[in-house]
Amino acid sequence: MSRKPLVPIEIFKKRRAKLASQFKGAALILTANPEFERNHDAGYEYRQDTNFFYMTGFEEPESVFVFRPGCKPETTLFVRKRDPLRETWDGFRFGPEGAKKEFEMDSTHEISQLSTILPDLLKEVGQVYYRLRKDAHWDQEIMKAIEENKKNEGRSGKGLLAIHDPSVVIGEARLIKSEEEKQWMRKAGEISANAHVEAMKFVRPGVNERHVQGVIYNSFYQQNSPRVGYNAIVASGANACVLHYIFNDQECKDGDLLLIDAGAEYNYYSGDITRTFPVNGKYTTAQKQVYEKVLYVQKAILKMIKPGVLFEELQNTTIDMLTNALIELKLLKGKKEDLIASKEFRKYYMHGVSHWLGMDVHDAGLYQVGGKSRALEPGMCFTVEPGLYIPADDATAPKEFRGIGIRIEDDIIVTEDGCEILTSKVPKEINEIEALMGCQAPPVR
Ligand code: GLY
Ligand code: MN
Ligand code: MN
Repeated sequence: MSRKPLVPIEIFKKRRAKLASQFKGAALILTANPEFERNHDAGYEYRQDTNFFYMTGFEEPESVFVFRPGCKPETTLFVRKRDPLRETWDGFRFGPEGAKKEFEMDSTHEISQLSTILPDLLKEVGQVYYRLRKDAHWDQEIMKAIEENKKNEGRSGKGLLAIHDPSVVIGEARLIKSEEEKQWMRKAGEISANAHVEAMKFVRPGVNERHVQGVIYNSFYQQNSPRVGYNAIVASGANACVLHYIFNDQECKDGDLLLIDAGAEYNYYSGDITRTFPVNGKYTTAQKQVYEKVLYVQKAILKMIKPGVLFEELQNTTIDMLTNALIELKLLKGKKEDLIASKEFRKYYMHGVSHWLGMDVHDAGLYQVGGKSRALEPGMCFTVEPGLYIPADDATAPKEFRGIGIRIEDDIIVTEDGCEILTSKVPKEINEIEALMGCQAPPVR
């Protein structure tokens, strides 16, 4: 039994070549995510550290990657050794030989060699890029190597090497998606959208939120997604007012709305979709009133997107429009400008309208550069997700709106003159949703 890299290795070589100048004269050290034991021999689902995968394509734990642009070897990967007994229990390992060949590294070693070989790899460099304080085990190993390297001070003239956080440099590279990455984002969006459609067709009064979650996850797996991008939020009724509701264990009731926020991963890229629709397939007048306001804003923001627009303009416009909506719905009283200045709108709209999207659902990349909001550029990928949340116990809200929580979320890539919506396969117009849900099964008895 053997395995192959998930995606062509050329992609990782290209990424390294692109970042080489930024790490010149330094060693970039990336470490694999740890495995977490749940109980006895059962572990939590494993997923590689995002930056580690971004630069190597290697998915095994207990691995360390050292990148020294311009030095020999330029790429070094420390991996677990082959172990027939462990592989019988836990599955295939590439081992140093397999990792060298399949991942096209200049040099590979067993991870047990790290403490002897890493200090040597640091001899030729002037600084280290390593993310401290994420993993105490690796911190200790890397610090030991840096300390060991300092023993050369008398000959090298270099003291303790400076340590920089590589997150910003790699994050900026991850922000602009390449053609392959755009394809994977489209695929993650499509898988996620198909699953939302399945859920809409399935939901009916009496089903449990958990059952709906199962329909979504089943659809993800059937479409060859290995895992979710984040834990799905399946929130019926007033549960939707909890932004990251995770219990997903209540009955979906006739007359309530259901908010589903779920996204699949594909090749380490994530979708992130929210739809809010009636459990019984038909919006009430009050639900329609709030839904239409949120949808209007969502479509307006999508229309704004094009290169040059500032990221913060999306948020400011959302706040402006939603505050208007809150006044029209009689949820807030007063002048729009005052309600914005006093931040009173936050009672009903308390999150950002967008976040970068990519390998992490809340992806890497700066939102501000030089203290100023960033301008949009082709290849950036983000969500558009306005929402309104009216707490069930809000005595000041008109009765018919209490307990309504609505969010509508799509994923986009910025293009040369606008944006490409990756998740439009799942309906969001009221008539389209009601038509789709018309084919629902009878109520659960
Ligand atoms: N799913 C989390 C978010 O929409 O930001
Ligand atoms: Mn989101
Ligand atoms: Mn979401």
